[in-house]
Amino acid sequence: MLVSAAEMLKKAKAGHYAVGQFNINNLEWTKAVLLTAQENNSPVILGVSEGAGKYMAGYKTVVGMVNGMLEELNITVPVALHLDHGSYDACYKCIEAGFSSIMFDGSHYPIEENIEKTKELVKVCGEKGISLEAEVGSIGGEEDGVIGMGECADPKECKAIADLGIDFLAAGIGNIHGKYPENWAGLSFETLDAIQQLTGEMPLVLHGGTGIPTDMIKKAIDLGVSKINVNTECQLSFAAATRKYVEEGKDQQGKGYDPRKLLAPGFEAIKETVKEKMEIFGSIGKA
Ligand code: 13P
Repeated sequence: MLVSAAEMLKKAKAGHYAVGQFNINNLEWTKAVLLTAQENNSPVILGVSEGAGKYMAGYKTVVGMVNGMLEELNITVPVALHLDHGSYDACYKCIEAGFSSIMFDGSHYPIEENIEKTKELVKVCGEKGISLEAEVGSIGGEEDGVIGMGECADPKECKAIADLGIDFLAAGIGNIHGKYPENWAGLSFETLDAIQQLTGEMPLVLHGGTGIPTDMIKKAIDLGVSKINVNTECQLSFAAATRKYVEEGKDQQGKGYDPRKLLAPGFEAIKETVKEKMEIFGSIGKA
């Protein structure tokens, strides 16, 4: 059964580790992430962006697929199905479809409007036992065609949103989605520290987990990050393994064109990436 992410992140915060959110794109992705979590006895959050939801034929399809897998694959570790960077409308659609966790990304609204809409969703999610992530300070890079620069959130605005009763907070600390440019300045630990000082026990979320050096990840966890989002890195390892298979001509040997064979190296590559991340985040054995 899907669970809210509130409890797992509270535990992560107290235990000084982070739970990975791995974004899913299709059946192979979902199965790879779930099996890796089970094999490593780790809690896990499946992230679904609006674009990925549309690609997978809608939120209800995603809920059906994930619930089916939890049962058929005997997944017993805590799993949350989470809307990633949701618009106001998408939040309601996912609540209705059966997601166990949502992110309302109101970071592009003026802070007053972000507060108003987040407050409303706190009430709706609270009634249904669904966990809610909010965002302050836009996280740069490209996601679903939206490009922003890596900003640092205002700690006071973070406090205002945290006090609304959300379950975890994404705050920009110079992180961006996708690959980091050569001249990236790194994470702003000063900002992270200032935000955590003001927000106390609130679990913080680090987006753009792809390509952040391990020492920075560990320091971010020390300073209060309890959830780390990874998307691009699984895509890169899937693509590299699939390219290798095709370049070696394996799709043309025997029944190598069978999708169950063609997609197998990419599937294994995702599993490896997810396991590596879980090791770094410290979530292995914490289910
Ligand atoms: P990356 O694609 O950089 O790993 O970021 C994922 C993310 O933050 C999803 O919200």
